[in-house]
Amino acid sequence: MERLTSAQVNYEDLLESLQDGLVVVDRDLRVTFLNPAGEELLGVSAATAHGKPLASLLGTTSPLIALVDRAMETGRAHAEHEASVQNPQGKVSVSAMASLLSDHSGEARGGVLLLRDLTRIRELEEQVRRAERLTAVGTLVAGIAHEVRNPLMGVRGAAQLLMAESTFPPALKEYCDVVIREVDRLNGLVEGMLAFAQPSPPRVVECNANQILEEILALEEAVLRRRGVTVGRIYDPQVPPVAADPDQIRQVFLNLIRNGAEAMEGGGELTLETAYERRSPRCFGLSVAVVKVIDQGAGLSPEARQHLFDPFFTTKPKGTGLGLAICHRIVGDHRGHIEIGDAEGKGCTVTVLLPLAKQ
Ligand SMILES: Nc1ncnc2c1ncn2[C@@H]1O[C@H](COP(=O)(O)OP(=O)(O)OP(=O)(O)O)[C@@H](O)[C@H]1O
Ligand SMILES: [Mg+2]
Repeated sequence: MERLTSAQVNYEDLLESLQDGLVVVDRDLRVTFLNPAGEELLGVSAATAHGKPLASLLGTTSPLIALVDRAMETGRAHAEHEASVQNPQGKVSVSAMASLLSDHSGEARGGVLLLRDLTRIRELEEQVRRAERLTAVGTLVAGIAHEVRNPLMGVRGAAQLLMAESTFPPALKEYCDVVIREVDRLNGLVEGMLAFAQPSPPRVVECNANQILEEILALEEAVLRRRGVTVGRIYDPQVPPVAADPDQIRQVFLNLIRNGAEAMEGGGELTLETAYERRSPRCFGLSVAVVKVIDQGAGLSPEARQHLFDPFFTTKPKGTGLGLAICHRIVGDHRGHIEIGDAEGKGCTVTVLLPLAKQ
């Protein structure tokens, strides 16, 4: 193999651009060189570190000092797969490799410590673990949900039959109503878990966002009005059709409308707004329909802000915490985008972007 001359390889550039931290020490374990990646890892500049004992950079009890010592004593490289270094930002987990530094005559000059930041690798590992956990939970949930659904319907049917009996004492109707109500609630939970655990791929057709909102309101508006919630519509009549599964998108808007209404316990105005946006930077540069659901509730709590889309996160006594997790998944399956922010004045604005059928 052809050997590169030193003119072809600038060793200083090489050390500067190395992603791993490199610390060189003399025979007394004093720092003689620190590359930029090393400066960042240890949170100290090369100028400050120069001439300082390695222990003052790593801490006197760091096992990495013994690692360098051993490498210098034995002349062989020694590795530590899992260690940590401390810098002003906190603890960073690293893998380390120490070796003897000798000059061209073979005389020992000191030691070299190579440090590799494991943070990114740990993050990727955590992502994989989370995905695996979700898949496992999803399979389990789907299994349980299927098992639970049929007996639930049996219980509901039996309670209804009981009430229909001619000898059924009317004074006990209240208890049967509780059974039916609670079964319906459990059934809602099971449906939600199934929708989350086993999402079906969207059956995409051209549909109109205004029309989907109106279909929902046809069923919901009376219930909302009874709770003191009025609906304001600011529709753009020209909004072009979106490429979407109407059943799934209906579920998204329904969840958002219910959340908005639930946020306004004493009533208030819920505004539904539609528009469209050409080549939205928030949505892979696609042209989108923009649907906003704006309420006048108390807004998001700091905790809700962090966990909004986490499955089972809820602040409501009877909530499942699956509403927004399902919305997030469905909108994502449509290559859309969902975000929740503060509304002007008070309350929340939820914005959903859905790609238009014709780009
Ligand atoms: N419009 C909103 N205003 C204030 N907080 C909201 C709003 N929408 C959602 N949240 C917060 O986010 C949480 C999660 O919402 P999500 O829809 O996922 O579940 P949920 O509404 O609690 O339960 P479910 O949807 O099953 O009834 C809510 O409990 C609430 O704290
Ligand atoms: Mg909800």
